Amino acid sequence: MTRSQPGQPRHSPYHVAVALFPGFELLDVTGPLEVLNMLSRETPIKLSLLSTTLDPVSTKTADMPYSMCEQSMVPTHTYEVPPSDIDALLVPGGTGARLSPDPHFKDLHAFLRQAFPSLDYLLTVCTGSALVAQTGLLDDRCATSNKNAWEWVQTQGERVEWVKDARWVEDDNVWTSAGVSAGIDMTLAWVAKLWGLDRAHAVAKRMEYVWKNDSSADTFA
Ligand SMILES: *[C@@H]1O[C@H](CO)[C@@H](O)[C@H](O)[C@H]1NC(C)=O
Repeated sequence: MTRSQPGQPRHSPYHVAVALFPGFELLDVTGPLEVLNMLSRETPIKLSLLSTTLDPVSTKTADMPYSMCEQSMVPTHTYEVPPSDIDALLVPGGTGARLSPDPHFKDLHAFLRQAFPSLDYLLTVCTGSALVAQTGLLDDRCATSNKNAWEWVQTQGERVEWVKDARWVEDDNVWTSAGVSAGIDMTLAWVAKLWGLDRAHAVAKRMEYVWKNDSSADTFA
């Protein structure tokens, strides 16, 4: 399948999918989706939400009894029967990611391996990069992750070139970002690559968001 060139997305509408799992971090998902929602006012974007089943996926897992504050998102597809025309896949992180490997992640891992060759882009936020590293897809690539989980993340992909001092890292078509809010900065940079810098700035302005646009400047490293 042809790949997008800078400023020339390969499809319109451009199809973005998000990989959900119990215990995902809300902002890892909704930060990038807010960017896409704003973008989609002029740019046709199609969205799919994937998980193991079609049941709502909660930000809370059974081992998080301390929290009464939870939200759920409703998947549109399962990993077993995903849409066939996904352009970009976003993998969030979150407390639930630390439960991997776990039976739930078998489906996600299998889907990642099968979908990767036809993806235009694979994007991760926070410990989502650890979930992808577990499949070997990040081997010999540069990647980053959440600095609060840094020690654990490194053990999930020993052949990955983990870059600590980074808000996000681009390695060809695999983009990984640091913790939680960094997903917004990475997604804006990715929008700039595919749809142009002006569009990215317009989206940030619409969000009244100060885009930290220097990928190598990470206050939290
Ligand atoms: C990055 O952000 C700085 C500070 O807001 C701004 O001056 C600069 O023009 C931005 N650069 C790009 C490429 O967006």
